[in-house]
Amino acid sequence: MGLDLDSRNYFLIRGASEEDLLAVMNINRVCLPENYTYSFFETILKSFPKSFLVAEVNGKIAGYIMCRVERIFSKFQRFKIVKAGHVISIAVLPEYRRIGIAASIMKNAMKILRDEYGCSEIFLEVRISNTPAINLYEKLGFIKVDRIKGYYMDGEDAYLMARELTFLE
Ligand code: ACO
Ligand code: ZN
Repeated sequence: MGLDLDSRNYFLIRGASEEDLLAVMNINRVCLPENYTYSFFETILKSFPKSFLVAEVNGKIAGYIMCRVERIFSKFQRFKIVKAGHVISIAVLPEYRRIGIAASIMKNAMKILRDEYGCSEIFLEVRISNTPAINLYEKLGFIKVDRIKGYYMDGEDAYLMARELTFLE
């Protein structure tokens, strides 16, 4: 009867701070086999604070993205060195999935990487079996630019996916 406003559908994307790191580490452990030390998260936050984002739902951290800015050979223009945002890790807790958090967090990160860090491209690696993530990236305009054999500890291949940051919606 009447409006059923599920409060889980309201989320806020904001920059991460050191107080968020334990929650971020927990989400990383719950969601992915690739885990890192506290000091690794801390170093990324200190080095690239603007593109380390969290999604908050009712005061609880539901997802994160962390990125590193690197100089790489362009994935789109031959022999050109460019600044690119490398998505090191993105994840959303299972109970908050499929409400647009990852898409929103990625769009925010892409704008920040371009406008605050001067990146012209963004790239990441993803397991070839990770259909949800691959769909997410393709929906956001990423393309598969390479396949890296045995990239993961268990031997699975990765797709290298990338997009240019010229035109953002
Ligand atoms: N099956 C198929 N497509 C999916 C799925 C799914 N289960 N989940 C998301 N998508 C695609 C869809 O195209 C979706 O759009 P739609 O809902 O309109 O169909 C689009 O992604 C956007 O979905 P969001 O709701 O924004 O994504 P969500 O917040 O659920 O997070 C994520 C997606 C991050 C992949 C989540 O499932 C997750 O945390 N998975 C485990 C961790 C992980 O795999 N992280 C990425 C590893 S690679 C890396 O970190 C660089
Ligand atoms: Zn990577």
